[in-house]
Amino acid sequence: MGYDFDTPVDRRGTASVKWDYGKRYTGMEDALPLWVADMDFPACSEVIASLKRRAEHGVFGYTLEPESYFQAVIDWMGRRHNWSIRRGWMVSAPGVVPSLNLAFAAFSQPGDGIVIQPPVYYPFRESIINNDRRVVENPLRLEGQRYTMDLSQLEAAIDGRTRLLVLCSPHNPVSRVWSRPELERLVEICLRRRITILSDEIHHDLILKGHRHTPTAALSEEAASITLTLTSATKTFNLAGLGCSLVIASNEQLRERYLAAQKRTWTGLANAFSTVATETAYRHGRSWLEQVIAYVQGNYEFLSTFLAERLPEARLIPLEGTYLAWVDLRALGLSDEQLKERILRQARVWLDDGPMFGSGGEGFQRINLACPRSTLEKALEAMVRVLA
Ligand SMILES: Cc1ncc(COP(=O)(O)O)c(C=O)c1O
Repeated sequence: MGYDFDTPVDRRGTASVKWDYGKRYTGMEDALPLWVADMDFPACSEVIASLKRRAEHGVFGYTLEPESYFQAVIDWMGRRHNWSIRRGWMVSAPGVVPSLNLAFAAFSQPGDGIVIQPPVYYPFRESIINNDRRVVENPLRLEGQRYTMDLSQLEAAIDGRTRLLVLCSPHNPVSRVWSRPELERLVEICLRRRITILSDEIHHDLILKGHRHTPTAALSEEAASITLTLTSATKTFNLAGLGCSLVIASNEQLRERYLAAQKRTWTGLANAFSTVATETAYRHGRSWLEQVIAYVQGNYEFLSTFLAERLPEARLIPLEGTYLAWVDLRALGLSDEQLKERILRQARVWLDDGPMFGSGGEGFQRINLACPRSTLEKALEAMVRVLA
């Protein structure tokens, strides 16, 4: 079936973080939102039908994931990522960020160092600080328009109390899909320096043509032995409001330590709707997903042409994965406050400011491309009026 992603869906009035809380987050009611990472597209029809069937049953008592759910995950990881996982390696969680927080508690003590590679998804830093751990920064390197991990700098940043590295793979916001050799070099350092890797792979299915995602734990037995993979279907299939994720670890010791932290928080039960939606999406959502990726690719090309013609000072970082475009506006010579003033307050377009993502984000903006092309065009037309 062919999906229509061109027709805008009115999301206002659904308690949508993206569309209904402008006043709370920005002080502005009516800014056009292309910020937080969810899609403005309806979920695939099979998912919607399965949720209706579940709702019609009418009883929503305590729930655990059925075995068929885990099998759907195993099948998906095998088919899509060539990653062979087992039922016993999986632990359910209500979300990737909650799992990260549990992992910080499980594998480190207050004052221990946790590595992040900014600019990066901002809850990493916030969670480290909230847990009284120490943020160890290994900023990405930007050469031309390509970001890489700075591995010699990483070696230097690790000290005797550095315990964990949070890997964003693919990397939000710079959209790199890390190659196998890059990941192998990273793993080699973490093995040698006894660092456990928390591999956040929530964007792993959103990979553009010409790129291939490699699960960190699929690199080798050694890689798997130091890695917890944090994954979810919520980003892939636009189910973030249902809240559902998985931690996958083949190393029993790591898994048990994580589970012990989870038990202390009583977050082991499932959501009756999210497991149904996830299982259905993994079993029946492939065509929907391929169409979404093609549409996002089209939006990226539209953005690229638009900027080249109308705002040539902007440099667009090549989109490899995710649906989040990372745009370098430094050549405009405006401060971050001035960019915000023009884009948010004058153009009334709500993007994610680069500095939110930490070091290296200054002068950048992140644009969510998972929207109808007309929405993107409207936002760009408004932006160019105040920036060009
Ligand atoms: C890299 C990354 N990790 C985690 C999340 C959120 O995960 P969850 O909603 O499962 O906590 C996001 C959402 O944008 C993300 O980009």
